[in-house]
Amino acid sequence: MTVRIRKAVFPVAGLGTRFLPATKAMPKEMLTVVDKPLIQYAVEEAQAAGIEHFIFVTGHNKTTIEDHFDANTILESILDRDGKDELLRAVRECTLDSGKISYTRQSEPKGLGHAVWCARDLIGDEPFAVLLPDDIFLCKTPCLKQMVDAYPSVGGNVVAVQEIPVEHSWRYGILKIKNDSGKLIRAKGIVEKPAPDKAPSRIAVSGRYILSPEVLKELDKTERGAKNEIQLTDAIAATIGKVPLTGLRYEGRRFDCGTKIGFLTANIEFALHRPDLAGELKKELKRLQSEL
Ligand code: G1P
Repeated sequence: MTVRIRKAVFPVAGLGTRFLPATKAMPKEMLTVVDKPLIQYAVEEAQAAGIEHFIFVTGHNKTTIEDHFDANTILESILDRDGKDELLRAVRECTLDSGKISYTRQSEPKGLGHAVWCARDLIGDEPFAVLLPDDIFLCKTPCLKQMVDAYPSVGGNVVAVQEIPVEHSWRYGILKIKNDSGKLIRAKGIVEKPAPDKAPSRIAVSGRYILSPEVLKELDKTERGAKNEIQLTDAIAATIGKVPLTGLRYEGRRFDCGTKIGFLTANIEFALHRPDLAGELKKELKRLQSEL
């Protein structure tokens, strides 16, 4: 029986302190890469993977996200009146259907595991996706779609993975490998943010997950872990033995927009993929390089 992944959770309650003062009054998920907010990249990726219900775990100062995915009839009628069809299409495209989007709050910043746990009643008893909007991808086939396609053959928990230099292990969930068949890696463990000398491998989790409801049961009892937060990684680790954990080496490139360098690089690389911007931007980049 093929189980469809219908629901996706977007944890968006973080304070975004790394981007202050930009994020003093604006959610970090609304920072733009070229002309789209980070959160929209994640939502479009979920749509491309067949997700039908979008669950946002929000907090204070996040109402702009709700407005962004809602219709704006005044703006739309002005764009329509002025014959700005392209813009009208772009504005309409980011309106999610009523009833297909839910918001719940994480009232305390207790970590990613706690954020996902806050969505438990909305998820129910079925496998679901989690997308961390800090991570965006340039892939021929969207990252979550690659995972959804692989899911029927592996089931359980599936995480998107990439190989990292071992000195970066403290930023990621790291897999302990059972066997590695190239594209798919069966894991016998997963550790959150180990120091390089404790890292069980160089296979790191990027911010895309397909999770079994078993993880929610574990989150009911998961204690604080790394950074004194309730970690999603620890709940996933606790389900190994009950459900398999598989890492999928996705094809494509990830940008960590939670860091300034990742965010700036994403802006340049995404713009270089845009036919309306690439030519002029290349000229500017050449000029800059000659001045370095
Ligand atoms: C989170 C997860 C970590 C994962 C990372 C990917 O960490 O806890 O396991 O590898 O996202 O971006 P964060 O970046 O929120 O500290």
